[in-house]
This record gives sequence, structure tokens and C-alpha cells, in this order.
Amino acid sequence: MIGVIGLGYVGLGVVSSFLTFKHDVTAIDIDEEKIKQLKNGILPISEPHILEVLNENKNRVIYSHDYSLLKGCEVVFVCVNTPENKDWSVNLDAINKCVDDVLNKVDKGTLIIIKSTVLVGYTSMVAKKAKEAGMYVVFMPEFLRQGHAYQDSISPSRIVIGAEDDKALEIVNKLYSSFDCPKVVTNFASAELAKYASNNFLATKISFINQIANFSNVVGANIQDVKDIMELDPRIGKGSLNPGVGFGGGCFVKDTKALYKQSEDLGSPITIVKETINQNEKQKYILLNELSNLFNGLEYLKDNKILVVGVSFKANSADLRNSIALDNIKVLERFTNKFALYDPLLGKEDKKRLPYKFEDNLENAIKLYDILLIFTEREEINDLPLDLFKDKIVLDGRNVLSDDRALKCKHCFSVGRGDLKKI
Ligand SMILES: NC(=O)c1ccc[n+]([C@@H]2O[C@H](COP(=O)([O-])OP(=O)(O)OC[C@H]3O[C@@H](n4cnc5c(N)ncnc54)[C@H](O)[C@@H]3O)[C@@H](O)[C@H]2O)c1
Repeated sequence: MIGVIGLGYVGLGVVSSFLTFKHDVTAIDIDEEKIKQLKNGILPISEPHILEVLNENKNRVIYSHDYSLLKGCEVVFVCVNTPENKDWSVNLDAINKCVDDVLNKVDKGTLIIIKSTVLVGYTSMVAKKAKEAGMYVVFMPEFLRQGHAYQDSISPSRIVIGAEDDKALEIVNKLYSSFDCPKVVTNFASAELAKYASNNFLATKISFINQIANFSNVVGANIQDVKDIMELDPRIGKGSLNPGVGFGGGCFVKDTKALYKQSEDLGSPITIVKETINQNEKQKYILLNELSNLFNGLEYLKDNKILVVGVSFKANSADLRNSIALDNIKVLERFTNKFALYDPLLGKEDKKRLPYKFEDNLENAIKLYDILLIFTEREEINDLPLDLFKDKIVLDGRNVLSDDRALKCKHCFSVGRGDLKKI
């Protein structure tokens, strides 16, 4: 029997993958509503495949808020959130409470696997307490991509095991024997830093390509071609080079701040990450800046009606954490109330929570609005008739609109397609 604490993207990835490998699972969360939903066969996050796996294996999983049900588990995964504080440090309240409760409730000899992202030093501190309580600790960073949580949990690109105890390592090796991928064993600090280094590198790639894209607009280059050419170099490789309005979500934003803060506090600041963060903050608002330039100020938008296309932080997710669209809407609503939102991935509850008008049909909506602000890759826009775009101002923050549609528009701005004639 394994225990999993924290039933978000990471926790439900762990639950569904271990159910697939025929383990029994006790799944714990403090959020009573989440537990109720899971017991009723409702998935509280938007991820493909997970619900099917949970339903197929419902006889082998128990959902509860009660940590005492973890008694009897040989292994307990900690997957709770580790959000940011205002000063960029990591808020450890949730994980500290979780670890204390685990140490008080589980049996001696239990292995605690920390999957939450924690800064260098945290696992070592927990391992000392665990040793006193007769338990073991390892840190195994999670690298899943939202939108692919099940696939990445069952078939990860690599498994990293931060372990400083032979017995703990023996239990992990047995537990993960069915997983077929590279496995790297290292000490706590290296595993913790590897997670931050990976996310910070990906975030830095995004800020880098965004600056190249902004420059492409200036010099008449096409960023899509520039990117394709770069990616043909095996030393550069493919991925995370899509220009746009920057990164949001529950990981990159906080993980860049956390690494910079810790490195600065310890006297070895990783300054390139600070620039990544600053660039991302600027990049987030490029569509509103362009809109402001077009109208000589957002206060002159007058009766122009605006449709915000894509609200979640990325196209294949309904996650609204650090949504770039919502950050922009907060600015926009200071100047106009003539706007509505379109995002087919958001559930009824999300739409009810947000105090904005939503449109459900993209084609009908476009007919009614003068300006489109595109924040995520809603590919369905290219299934719509060309003529729909004739009188529109489109500010395309993800370069999703096809060239022929972009050229039809009254005005189309994109992130680095500087060679499109009308731009
Ligand atoms: N989301 C990702 O793509 C991703 C990828 C890799 C790593 N991570 C890291 O994994 C961790 C979890 O991320 P997430 O996106 O799954 O978070 P999440 O917010 O989706 O889920 C966290 C869950 O933990 C629960 N929780 C909080 N405190 C608890 C407690 N004391 N006891 C029991 N449950 C508790 C919350 O109610 C919530 O359901 C974070 O540290 C994150 O940085 C996330």
C-alpha cells in the first residue's frame, strides 16, 4: 500500500500511475471538496486519462482527509503545494504541516518520498527529523508537464532519486522497478537543485526567444523560421522555444523567483534568472502595449469591443494560476468594460468564479467583437472562415493565427512574425 498526500497535478499523477502498476493507494488531501469530488468520480483538475484510470481502479484507492489512514503504508508521497511568498522565498507552511502530520501518524520504517519542489537544504532538514522518528526520506523531483500529467507520470523522461541512506534507496529501487527510463541517484542537494535548474533553464529559453522575437518584429525577420533553424542544431534541440506573451502557471513563475532568491541570499546570485523574470514581466503586457500604441492610449478604446481568446495559463490546461490573460484583463478593465472572454477548457465553476462575461462560440463571438487579444494557442481559430477576420484588429500573443488569416485582418500584430506585410 502506498500513500499520496496532496491531490493536485503531481499527486493525482502519482496516484494514477501507481494504480496502473497495480498498487493499492491511500490518497489524502486537506481540501474536503476535492475529496468529495474524487469519491463521486469527478476529477478536480483538467488532465486527460487520469479519470479513466481512477474509475477503472476505484476498488484499490481510498480518498480521505484523514492522515491516520496512512498507517500501514510502506511508502508515503508528499505532493503538496509549495507556493511563493511576496519576498520570492518559498512558502513552506503546507509542506511543513504535512511533514509533521506524517511523522506523527505513519509507522516506523515508512519511506517518505518528497515530490513537492523544495529548495536546497529542505530534504536534509526533514531527513534528520525522520531519522529520529525511525523513518526514511528521499527527494524525487517531479518533471511532469501539465496537460500530460498521466503520460509523464507513467513514463517519465528520467527518474531522479535524491537519497542519502542505503535502506531508503533499496525501497525506492524496488518500488520503481517497473518504470523503464534513465534513473539517476544523487544526494539531496543535487536532486533539489536539478529540479530548479531544469525549470529555470526552460523559463530562460522562453525569455530568450521572446527577446529574439521582439527583435524580429523590428528587423522584419520571421521568428518561426528563426526558431526552426535554431532547433536543427542538435546542441540546441527542440522545445521551449515558442515565442509568445511569456510564461505563467503554477511552476515557472515561482521557481524562477525561488532560485534567484536563494542564490542571492547565499551570496552567489544567478543573475541570468533575474533577467528571465524581468523580461517575462515585460513580455506579459506586449499585447496591451501594442493596443495602447494603436489607439494612442487605452483610454481611447471608446466603443471598440474586445474578445480575449484563451484565459488559462496555457492552451492544453484549465489551470488559471498566474494566467497572463487574467493579469492583462485586470489592466484592461481600468479602461473599458466592453470585453468578453473565450476559453472552452474552463469549467462552469471557473467561469462562475470570474466576474467577467464569457462567450461560448468562437465564430459567433468574433462576428460581434472588433479586437481579438489571443493569449493561448486556440488552434480552432484557423478552422474559421477567412472573411471573418476582414475588419478585425488581432493581437496574436501566440502566433497561432495562420498567415492568410493574419493578412486578411485590418491589423494583425504577432510576436516576431515581422515579415508579414500588414504587420
Ligand atoms: N503542476 C506541475 O506541473 C508540477 C510539476 C512538477 C512539480 N510540481 C511541484 O509539485 C508540488 C505540487 O504541485 P501541484 O501543481 O500538484 O499543486 P496543486 O496545488 O495542484 O495541489 C496541491 C494539493 O495539496 C493539497 N494540500 C495542501 N496542503 C496540504 C496538507 N497539509 N495536507 C494534505 N494536502 C494538502 C492542496 O489542497 C492541493 O490539493 C509543488 O511543489 C509544485 O511546485 C508541480
